[in-house]
Amino acid sequence: MTLLIEAATEQDERAVTHLWRACGLTVDYNDPATDFRFARGGASSEVLVARAECGRVVGTVMVGHDGHRGWLYYVAADPMRQREGIGAAMVEAGERWLRERGVVKVQLLVRETNQGVVAFYQTLGFEVAPRIVMSKWLVET
Ligand SMILES: CC(C)(COP(=O)(O)OP(=O)(O)OC[C@H]1O[C@@H](n2cnc3c(N)ncnc32)[C@H](O)[C@@H]1OP(=O)(O)O)[C@@H](O)C(=O)NCCC(=O)NCCS
Repeated sequence: MTLLIEAATEQDERAVTHLWRACGLTVDYNDPATDFRFARGGASSEVLVARAECGRVVGTVMVGHDGHRGWLYYVAADPMRQREGIGAAMVEAGERWLRERGVVKVQLLVRETNQGVVAFYQTLGFEVAPRIVMSKWLVET
């Protein structure tokens, strides 16, 4: 399998948001197209995509840092192409992107309803960090 991993372009928006929906990563309170545009336009964030030989987007990761830690979001592999190493390649690409910018630690959040993926991240060297995540909306939702 030959994968080309690169930064998403504006033209990838439809394919990327379709993949996120197909992978069950979208929720009512986040518009995926807005998320895609915001991360692509950020000074310290990016959406990386994996293209199959035919050019189709088969994997994604949203990556960014907050000046301290690196974060991964929207790690996804095409449902028809899972268990082929695409997810691992996306995580590795996100890690590379962060390392190149001097970030020394990467973190991510797993929804309580998606705990099956913990084993996936553990195979890639991640460990469960006992923390309480607190959050607050800064706009009306
Ligand atoms: C999670 C996801 C990205 C994994 O992608 P993938 O391409 O299927 O995974 P890979 O083929 O790269 O697997 C890498 C390793 O993790 C293991 N693995 C993959 N999915 C796993 C799972 N659900 N449970 C346990 N292990 C898993 C594989 O066996 C493989 O290990 P190996 O190399 O020793 O065989 C993919 O299942 C997906 O898109 N899921 C829906 C979206 C999602 O939940 N994303 C995570 C949000 S936090």
